[in-house]
Amino acid sequence: MRVLHLETAESTQDECFRLLESCRAVAVRADVQTRGRGRHGSRWHSPPGGLWLSVGLIGADGLACAVAGPVAVCEALAPYLPSPALIRPPNDVFHSGKKLAGVLVEKRGDKVVTGFGINLYQEVFPPELNAVSLKQLGGTGFNLENVAERVIAGFTGLLEMPLRAIISKYNGYLMGLGKRVRVGEAEGRFMGLSEDGFVIGEIVIPVGRFTGMEIVE
Ligand code: BTN
Repeated sequence: MRVLHLETAESTQDECFRLLESCRAVAVRADVQTRGRGRHGSRWHSPPGGLWLSVGLIGADGLACAVAGPVAVCEALAPYLPSPALIRPPNDVFHSGKKLAGVLVEKRGDKVVTGFGINLYQEVFPPELNAVSLKQLGGTGFNLENVAERVIAGFTGLLEMPLRAIISKYNGYLMGLGKRVRVGEAEGRFMGLSEDGFVIGEIVIPVGRFTGMEIVE
């Protein structure tokens, strides 16, 4: 896979979409993003010190990317952390109650771009972000390049596996599994992700409609 490193980009997502006009697979990372974006149209704070990375693939399965993305982050960071990072569904990565990384999947026609925002070296965050960096968690021995390589290799490797196998890994990192939870109107025991969506007791919530889970016990 071609991997491009830019000092600055508006958003590595857009760079990837542009490059996919002339290739089938590409990764772009930038030191800084001036218009980084998160899920639900939010702004993604992208100062120096974080890993701002997008992986673009023609014809990839969007659901597989959304599931594989956070798993790839948990696996890539595992060697540097004292205990595993966890997935807060649908695709945030948390450690010690704070957000360590977020994943955004965007699809335009047959172009699928998966964006990874991973906090590595930042020392301060706006408090409303409830964020933490790998460095603040005591992580050592990592750098931007080796984490980027591990995420890209892990992510593309996961996409070679059947969706069921990726989901099973995802459930292994899931926060709140087996607990009583509330998501909108739905309340019940959280059984995790299936191929149809998130299973809360008897209810299945499609992946795209799953937001704001509260653990009630
Ligand atoms: C989230 O809302 O949690 C997802 C955040 C995804 C941020 C990454 S940073 C690299 C890529 N470029 C962007 O503009 N967004 C994603």
